Amino acid sequence: MLRTLRSVLRIREVEFRASGRRLARAASIADLGRIARARLPRGVFDYIDGGAEDELTMRRNIAAFRRLEFVPRVLRDVAAIDTTTTLLGRPLPLPLVLGPTGFTRIVSPGGELDVARAAARAGLPYTLSTMATRSIEEVAAVSTGAKWFQVYVWRDRALVRDMLARAASQGYEAIVVTVDTAVLGRRERDVRRGFLLPPKIGPGTLIDGVLHPGWTWDFIRAEPITFANVAGTGAADGSTAVALSDYINSQFDPALSWREVGWFRENWPGPVVLKGIQTVADARLAADAGVEAIVLSNHGGRQLDGAPPPLEVLPGVADAVGDRIEILCDGGVRRGSDIVKAVALGARAVMIGRAYLYGLGAAGEKGVDAVIALLDAGMRRTMALAGVCSVPEIGPDLVRWRPTPR
Ligand code: GLV
Repeated sequence: MLRTLRSVLRIREVEFRASGRRLARAASIADLGRIARARLPRGVFDYIDGGAEDELTMRRNIAAFRRLEFVPRVLRDVAAIDTTTTLLGRPLPLPLVLGPTGFTRIVSPGGELDVARAAARAGLPYTLSTMATRSIEEVAAVSTGAKWFQVYVWRDRALVRDMLARAASQGYEAIVVTVDTAVLGRRERDVRRGFLLPPKIGPGTLIDGVLHPGWTWDFIRAEPITFANVAGTGAADGSTAVALSDYINSQFDPALSWREVGWFRENWPGPVVLKGIQTVADARLAADAGVEAIVLSNHGGRQLDGAPPPLEVLPGVADAVGDRIEILCDGGVRRGSDIVKAVALGARAVMIGRAYLYGLGAAGEKGVDAVIALLDAGMRRTMALAGVCSVPEIGPDLVRWRPTPR
């Protein structure tokens, strides 16, 4: 009888850590998002989850992946699946880069260090944000993996030059210049709440904090959050709470233009990546300017509402400049199948932001590991089911746009 019982009961190993129990309940990145939503104060979750204005672009980024379907082939011997590729001349186990996110320590105290460690463990590049809450040096101290540095262009160019020199001396391999943030998009979830960074304790946030004790306990025990990259430079370092829009609109240079791309060349020894390209015309200008790569991106729908989904822009851009520069794409990547779709339309790799923040919010560093593992397994499974064994075999004939319903 015991044998029969054992054969019908699958007893899971008992998981003692709360974060482990949370992870065990997550079958997908969307599940991790739901867990993060329950765990984080609403203001914090909405800051990472929200988009600009009516959030049309944010939703369309996801919808674009759903509108693309596979043209699967069968009986193709998919016993050995190989997801490796190269990016900026370096081998990559998976066409995936962890993109820059500001203020990562509001999600979980490990913040950027957790994400950098998880990326390094998986052999993937991690992009540290200018607006990070851990510095260039702190991240380099915990990660020997490939690191990129994202640059917002301060009005004070000496400060930017200094950050580039610090990143170069710490072994960062590439810079990612964000070009879609002349001014900050209006994220109305934050506006409605008067959301400040770092979050300030007031009557509203107090109730929010009490309702989310796990996050609050971690937050009050951790050291105060600042813009770690500019601490001690004389620039406002975020040690007093600010509305992100006021900060960005006062510190960053809206007069940035194509002329400045040469300035980065002169002040950075390695590859330059422009993030936030949204048209074929600008992709051409980027290639003419001699950058190594572009990221087709609308900043996860957080900037210009009404901007097109990168996936929809990708085929035209690949056609126009795919033989001159490497093309990455972000916005709405939630599954391994999304990576396959982007690669099929001409992306060298995809970038993720929110997806890993969901994992970080749900279960810290292990949550980021889980996101990467889900994307990896999902990409392998998709390739096997679609009948392709390696990245070079993933081409435009593997996918087609579903007709839009009338
Ligand atoms: C910063 O870049 C943000 O999107 O919040």
